[in-house]
Amino acid sequence: MKDVVLSGIRSTGKLHLGNYFGALSKFVKMQEDYDCLYFIADLHALTTHPDASALHDNVKDIVAEYLAAGLDPEKATIFVQSDIPEIPELYLLLNMHVGIGELMRTASFKDKARKALGISRDGSDDEIEKDILGNESNSKRVNAGLLTYPTLMAVDILIQKAKYVPVGKDQEQHLELTRRFARRFNAFYGVDLFPEPTNFDFGGKPVKVPGLDGSGKMGKSEGNCIYLADDEKTLRKKVMRAVTDEGPKAPNSEMTEPVKNLFTLLELTSTPEIVTQFRDAYADCSIRYGDLKKQLAEDILKITLPIRERFLDIRSNDEYIAKVVREGAERARERAAKTLAEAREAMGIRRFW
Ligand code: TYM
Repeated sequence: MKDVVLSGIRSTGKLHLGNYFGALSKFVKMQEDYDCLYFIADLHALTTHPDASALHDNVKDIVAEYLAAGLDPEKATIFVQSDIPEIPELYLLLNMHVGIGELMRTASFKDKARKALGISRDGSDDEIEKDILGNESNSKRVNAGLLTYPTLMAVDILIQKAKYVPVGKDQEQHLELTRRFARRFNAFYGVDLFPEPTNFDFGGKPVKVPGLDGSGKMGKSEGNCIYLADDEKTLRKKVMRAVTDEGPKAPNSEMTEPVKNLFTLLELTSTPEIVTQFRDAYADCSIRYGDLKKQLAEDILKITLPIRERFLDIRSNDEYIAKVVREGAERARERAAKTLAEAREAMGIRRFW
């Protein structure tokens, strides 16, 4: 039996290079050797209140991007989270064993809560707690779905008994919590129901793809993304506008953050020879950032343009998209229903008839 792999991406907009290198490119490689399930996390997307009229189209976009990037519905199960009603049921059950304290200490929750409350990045945990608990209007601004986001994510994984969960670095804390919840449930009920999942990275380290604005990671809410569906002109423009610095002042000097980020992107998209060539040019101060950016744009386009073309084609075929997720949902539901029945049994929930 092949090991089970599960991962998902929220339907909050088109996919960017962070999603691609952190997750999707691994999904494609893994479908060859594993029993893979990949889904669109539309319930997770609700935690940040997307426009209801756009949600369905966003889900379609991501299914089409999965397929355009090379996922094959004959090899992997592709489904939409909200098509599996067993997930919300197990989410309710698992929440009985999840502490609100551990959820409040999760980095992603603190980030989102800070944003919702308008507290600066370095606002302390105390500040967040006081703002949420002590102020009537603020207490409504941070919704309970945001707090219990890690429970829902754990359920996505545990309900399929996945062993590997290919995700970017930013999701590792959620995986740690998933392992903890699995251990706790198993120990509490004296069962061996949930395996403890780990990230998967083909021997390398999980990546954090940086943005083009010189700081932090590439993210939909940061406005610093290169999208897989960007057209050639837009993409070139974005890369040429990427933040740099005034150039190295002395041989072998330390790189600033924005320049390091460009090299990280180059390493992900170019050949080792080209990376070395630009590293050497940086070290001896002959580098021209314009050339580096041109090269980077070329290499990114080699990856994204074929995906964009296939995406446009698949996206216009509603029937095909519907068929893929309908068949995927059938397979994913069957497995989820089995695990849910086992969890209910372990917890002592039995039907009278
Ligand atoms: P989401 O939608 O934020 O991101 C989807 C995937 O893309 C990766 N990613 C990145 N990787 C490297 N560098 C970046 N700049 C970058 N930005 C995004 C993320 O690590 C992720 O792998 N909670 C998940 C969705 C989810 C899930 C799950 C994933 C829900 N349930 C169960 C795995 C298993 C999320 O928000 O991903």
